[in-house]
Amino acid sequence: MLLGVNIDHIAVLREARRINDPDPIDALSIAKRAGADQITIHLREDRRHIQDEDAKRIVELSPLPVNLECAIAPEIVQIVSNLNPHRVTLVPEKREEVTTEGGLDLEKNFDALKETILHFQNRGIEVSLFIDPYLEHIEMATDLHVEWVELHTGSFANIHASLYGNLLRSHHRIPSLDQPREVLANMLQKSLDALTKAAAAADAKGLKVAAGHGLNYQNVQKITPIVSIRELNIGQSIIARSIFTGLHESISTMKRLIG
Ligand code: PXP
Repeated sequence: MLLGVNIDHIAVLREARRINDPDPIDALSIAKRAGADQITIHLREDRRHIQDEDAKRIVELSPLPVNLECAIAPEIVQIVSNLNPHRVTLVPEKREEVTTEGGLDLEKNFDALKETILHFQNRGIEVSLFIDPYLEHIEMATDLHVEWVELHTGSFANIHASLYGNLLRSHHRIPSLDQPREVLANMLQKSLDALTKAAAAADAKGLKVAAGHGLNYQNVQKITPIVSIRELNIGQSIIARSIFTGLHESISTMKRLIG
């Protein structure tokens, strides 16, 4: 399976002091040597981590293809298309969110998405849509003629964390996941079934399938058996581990786990 390493969190650490250390650029060659297949970054409207200058230098200097995530806001679309990355992944964005909490609402944004997708494709940039794993979204993504869909694995990851008791601190507990273990085990299986069905449906329609959000060293091997998924984009867990092990180890271990 291909590994896209999301390096936004290197910039999160730098922005905590508004200085120039650590520099996400230094991750590019390490990621390549460690076996990553792609660099993923998100140029958010609020610029909370990656800045315009980072995005420019990363696209220019990366030895790996760059997958640039962005919202469909016209100002951002213009900046991103001038940068000319290998791929654009369109994502929903809310200023108050901690991270991208759900997939795109394709129905509500259909016309704006259509225009934005064509804008990028006319410039030779392939487009991916970050969506929740529902069959109706696959139908709409097919109608939008994108090259890729990226399935949001956040719901799966939250259930996994609740079931196995890792990572979620008490004040981050999700009330709907305060359930007995058998219920959580059932929910986990349902979330995997939804990902498997959505991935197979997308594959059957000729869409390339990626997945990501909340994947980590504990949960990722539940996703790897889904044969229609060809790429995972993983950020927070890899950068978090790298603080203790170094980035080369955290990427190469993840690459080994996903096979
Ligand atoms: N894929 C997409 C589209 C994302 O928005 C994100 C988060 O920026 C990721 C993957 C990576 O998620 P995480 O940091 O939880 O691994």
